[in-house]
Formats: sequence, structure tokens, C-alpha cells
Amino acid sequence: MTTTTLLCQLSELPEHGAKGFDLDARKLFAVKRQKEVFLYENRCPHKGIPLEWMPDIFLDAEKQFIQCSTHGALFTIDQGQCIAGPCVGARLQQVDFTIIDGAICIQN
Ligand code: FES
Repeated sequence: MTTTTLLCQLSELPEHGAKGFDLDARKLFAVKRQKEVFLYENRCPHKGIPLEWMPDIFLDAEKQFIQCSTHGALFTIDQGQCIAGPCVGARLQQVDFTIIDGAICIQN
């Protein structure tokens, strides 16, 4: 049986920023860039650990890429493709979501 989990309202995502979500069995994060939202598993493909070192800090200083805080891998925001660092060519796991009444929701 699938259930719908509400992560947050779209309006709670910082413009050109990110937000992490700690669910029971999963860690996810969302990035908002110009009206677009991308949702990923919070797990670096290099070591399989969470990306951030402080809550909701997932982007590099210029906010151009998702950055892993452990060894500095950089990932494209729209595809989660690693373009620099120890896991070049690997990808973050993208997560499907739907928008229901202005809220980001996932099925699990
Ligand atoms: S754990 Fe992310 S780059 Fe090494």
C-alpha cells in the first residue's frame, strides 16, 4: 500500500536554496532554482553518506551546484550528475514528487 507524505509547502523552500527532510527511513533534500524544484535522496554516491554539514546547506557558495560537504563533489542541480570530485559521472538519486495544494508530496 502506498501512502502520500507531505514534505513541505513550496513557499517554505528558499529561493535558489535547499531544504533537507528527515523521514523515518529516508533522508531527502529539495533544491529550488527559479520556479523549478528538484528532489533527491540525501546520499552521496561516493560514500553513501548525507551531503550536508549543516542543516539545509546543500549548495556551493555560488549556488550553482549541489556540493557534498565531505570531499567536495559537485553535482548539477537539475540532473544530480557529478561533474567534479571523487565520483565524477555518478548521480544523485532523483525522487519523484507531486505538488498537491502547493505542497511537495512523495509516495512511499
Ligand atoms: S562522501 Fe561525498 S564526495 Fe566523498
